Amino acid sequence: MEEQFKHGLLWQDHQHSQLLTCIESLNKTRSTKLELTELENAIRFLEFYVKTHFEMETYYMQELNYPDTFNHQKAHEQFVRMLTSFKAKVETITDSSTIITELCNWVMDHILKTDKKLADFIKHQAGKGLQL
Ligand SMILES: [Fe+2]
Ligand SMILES: [Fe+2]
Repeated sequence: MEEQFKHGLLWQDHQHSQLLTCIESLNKTRSTKLELTELENAIRFLEFYVKTHFEMETYYMQELNYPDTFNHQKAHEQFVRMLTSFKAKVETITDSSTIITELCNWVMDHILKTDKKLADFIKHQAGKGLQL
């Protein structure tokens, strides 16, 4: 994973790295002519993985009374909605490249901005002696 995506929290960096790998493979489905089932599998894995990951971030936000919890959770929900609607139309859509680009951009942008803010907050709390 590129340095810019690392925020210095082990569990979060690890999960983001998996997430970016996942997004990368989804992105590859644009250039190679993959079977529909492969695309569906990629979406299903992404769905499963973000669920676990978003739950983990939410856990920390709630435990630490993170001030921006509401907006951060809204952003996660927005991504889940994007994924769900993609899954629903994946069989009929002729060109999925626009939506794949949107999903990939969302993940990268979210990690770089929204998750960076959360990571900084969590590290700050840890600095105050909180056991994380
Ligand atoms: Fe994240
Ligand atoms: Fe997040």
